This record gives sequence, structure tokens and C-alpha cells, in this order.
Amino acid sequence: MADSALLAGRAVVKRFGGLVAVNAVDFEVRRAEIFGLIGPNGAGKTTLFRCISGMYAPTSGSIRLRGKEIGGLAAHVVCARGVVTTHQIVRPFLEMNVRRNVLVGVLYGRSGLRGARADAEVQRILEFTELAPHEHIAAKSLTLARRKRLEVARALATRPDVLLLDEVAAGLNPTESARMVELIRRIRDAGVTIVMVEHVMKAIMSVSDRIMVMDLGAKIAEGAPAEIAKDQRVIKAYLGQEAVA
Ligand SMILES: Nc1ncnc2c1ncn2[C@@H]1O[C@H](COP(=O)(O)OP(=O)(O)OP(=O)(O)O)[C@@H](O)[C@H]1O
Ligand SMILES: [Mg+2]
Repeated sequence: MADSALLAGRAVVKRFGGLVAVNAVDFEVRRAEIFGLIGPNGAGKTTLFRCISGMYAPTSGSIRLRGKEIGGLAAHVVCARGVVTTHQIVRPFLEMNVRRNVLVGVLYGRSGLRGARADAEVQRILEFTELAPHEHIAAKSLTLARRKRLEVARALATRPDVLLLDEVAAGLNPTESARMVELIRRIRDAGVTIVMVEHVMKAIMSVSDRIMVMDLGAKIAEGAPAEIAKDQRVIKAYLGQEAVA
């Protein structure tokens, strides 16, 4: 593994019975980069995220953080090592208000903060994610854009080194999506390494330093956004013919 890789996967496989959802995927994510992951529905993107974040144990292969194996560790252990994921289907504690949802992230996460210090950390995160004006609203009553932002805030509250974002711009209008991209950039500028899955091409192409493309469980391409956009295999599998024009 290159010294520059913070997170690296080698021949990662995840099977569900006869289905190979992730098929021998290699990847390397560098410190403080924004690494995009794209591909058609069912390509295995979410499954790969779940293998990294400890929700699933990979069937085989290796996932290393700073050179140490994390593949197969439980999600709370992986979180304690500094890797956390948001979920494609947002699932905050719906009855709880925004502030309490973020507090759960702080208490669950790595900061070790309690009492007034935990509250101050919650405040900092609410302001950073621009959710402070909505802190008393129950998560279930938020607009989708704010619920997505809350999902990011909860993950951020655990103080990750690596933040995995699964479709945080999906379903947002162009203005909301641009604000999400701006938030992602600020998170990276604060030193957090980001791996993101996204179908909103404008968002992922503009924000990613490098992009990996998956199809049917396998990696089919990797490179700078501009290279990916003109890769024939990627166009065929995912971007479609309109993208060529
Ligand atoms: N828990 C599971 N049990 C069985 N099969 C699963 C499970 N989770 C995912 N799959 C299958 O694995 C494949 C990859 O699914 P995955 O959700 O990782 O795709 P994805 O790239 O995230 O797709 P999308 O863009 O639609 O979110 C699909 O064929 C899916 O049906
Ligand atoms: Mg998915």
C-alpha cells in the first residue's frame, strides 16, 4: 500500500448467497481527498460502503485504515477508529429534535465529550452544518434537504477521519444540491477525508478529486472526473450516450 493511502481495500468481495455484490474491488483513498464512487443501480456501491463501515463483514479481501485491518470489525469499533457512514435512506431518530440527534452522534462517537462540553460541540456542529435555526424541530418534520444535512451532522459529530456519504444530494433541487456540495468541501477543508456515492453527476463531478466507477460489483474505471467523463466503458455502463455529446 502506498504511504499516501489512508484507507485501502484489496480484493474486497461481498457475496449474498449466489450474488457477488462486490467483486474483488481494489481502492485507495488518500488523506483529505474527496473520492467519488459512481455506477448504475445495483453496482455494489452501498454494499462496499457497508463493508468499510462495519455493517457487513466482507466475504474476503482486506480493508485497511492507516495500514491496519478494519474489515470484519463491528460498526462501533470502526467508528471508534474514525470511519463513519451516512445512510442512503436517511434514518435519524425521527421523534427526536435536531439538537438531540446531533448529541447522540457526539456521545456515541470518539470525542469523549460529556455534559456542557458535549453541548458546546453540538452547537459547533449545528452552526457548521447550518442547522442551528432548526435545532428544536423533530427530525421527522424536517424537509428532505435538512434531513440529509442532519444525517451528515450526526456522522460528523462522531469526529471521523473518514466520512462515507451515500447519496446525500439525491432528491435535492439544484440549489439544495449546491449547498450540500459546499458543505462537503468545508468538511474536507476541516481535514476530514471523504468518500461519496452519488448519482447527481453535477455534484460528484464538480467536487471529487478522483472517481471510481463500479458496475455489477466490479471496478471498471478510476481517475480524475474529466477522464471518467470520457471513458468509453463508463459511458456505456452508466453515463449513457447523451453524456458523449
Ligand atoms: N442485504 C442484501 N441481501 C441480498 N442482496 C443484497 C443486499 N444488499 C444489496 N444486495 C444486492 O447487491 C447488489 C448491490 O446492491 P447495492 O445496494 O450495493 O447497489 P448500489 O450500487 O448501492 O445501488 P443504488 O445506486 O441503487 O443504490 C444488488 O444486486 C442488490 O440487490
Ligand atoms: Mg446504494
